[in-house]
Amino acid sequence: MTTQRARILEPTNLTPAVEALRNSAVVAIPTETVYGLAGNAFDATAVTKIFAAKERPSFDPLIVHVAPELDTVEKLSAAGIVDISRMNREMIDISNSLINTFWPGPLTLILPKGPKVMDLVTSGLDQVGVRMPAHPIAQDLLRAAQMPLAAPSANRFGRISPTKAEHVLEELGDRIPYIIDGGPCDVGVESTVLAIDSGIQSNTSVSVSVSVSVSVSVSVTITDTNEKPRLILLRPGKITASDIEHATSISVERASSTHEKASPGMLASHYAPRKNLYIIEDWSRLNASESAPWLNKKIGLLVTSGDGQIAQQALAAIQSKPSSTVCLSAHGLDSEAAQKLFAGMRELDNSEADVILATAAPNASGLWPAIADRLKRASTR
Ligand code: TXA
Ligand code: MG
Repeated sequence: MTTQRARILEPTNLTPAVEALRNSAVVAIPTETVYGLAGNAFDATAVTKIFAAKERPSFDPLIVHVAPELDTVEKLSAAGIVDISRMNREMIDISNSLINTFWPGPLTLILPKGPKVMDLVTSGLDQVGVRMPAHPIAQDLLRAAQMPLAAPSANRFGRISPTKAEHVLEELGDRIPYIIDGGPCDVGVESTVLAIDSGIQSNTSVSVSVSVSVSVSVSVTITDTNEKPRLILLRPGKITASDIEHATSISVERASSTHEKASPGMLASHYAPRKNLYIIEDWSRLNASESAPWLNKKIGLLVTSGDGQIAQQALAAIQSKPSSTVCLSAHGLDSEAAQKLFAGMRELDNSEADVILATAAPNASGLWPAIADRLKRASTR
């Protein structure tokens, strides 16, 4: 039996990828965050293929990637991607200022969906996630193909996001025609997802009684133009809540469980290795009891920051020693750790280790909350 392997394309030769996209096929592309599995966002056949290749459930919405030319909500609305008529002045201004500050870049904005975006893309939601990638190859492709690209991370559903072309080959090599090789991704974790909510648009039913005793029910939308929109962080990433607060002077709300339902992709178990992964918060109290799931197992050690000495010593104290160790950043740099996170998880997952133990993210600044979020989603609870 032969398995068809995807062709790896050099970025200098985008023509086959453009042709494929025009013919409703899907192509893996590099972005600055992770590799994406891209298809024409306006083409139902292409979008269906994305869900099928990933084995992704249809309730998990896709992000629409746009070319650098679409750099205001007015232009996004003219392209049918966003619906500006459902945004008040404040919401338009705040969205444009976020676009101006952070695009192209790893920030996905959740905005009212325009008429050209199919329910298939947004999983039936009235909002669409939009982002303008900073990666030059993604931009070249968006310009050459002349279509917005729906693109989730190019992994099978629930698995670790790919940050190198070879990871995509491992995940989807038998399912897609092309992988554009743009080298390792710069950021390493997926974009920040931010919902922008007017918070003040309310559909109010008004009953109008006419003298001939005919009752008419009218639904009006009351828009208070002076209110500031609400900003809700649905997924942490490189653009942090405080970056957004600096740019907008609006405090960013963290996603509650209700919001997590509104963003169905934020499933607790995500980005998971095949092996069980445990985050050890306090190595000085490492559980060495009979029931500890790592006892007498081959341990893969994932050190988020530093050289992992404390973890090694704690393991030695229980007569154990990791069979493989990955240190994400010896000097504790968040950007370096994020860049290496998914490749590190993948390496340990493919190693002889039976179980993975990870050290917790050292603090809550910069990219560490995003790293902590991905580790938590990968962990066994
Ligand atoms: O960095 C990234 O964002 C990468 C690259 C390829 O651009 N893409 C990515 O896509 O991570 P994906 O599908 O793996 O994650 C997108 C998540 C969804 O799971 C969902 O939580 C949220 O973004 N999302 C997308 N559209 C949404 C919408 N209309 N409303 C709420 N959340 C949405
Ligand atoms: Mg994903």
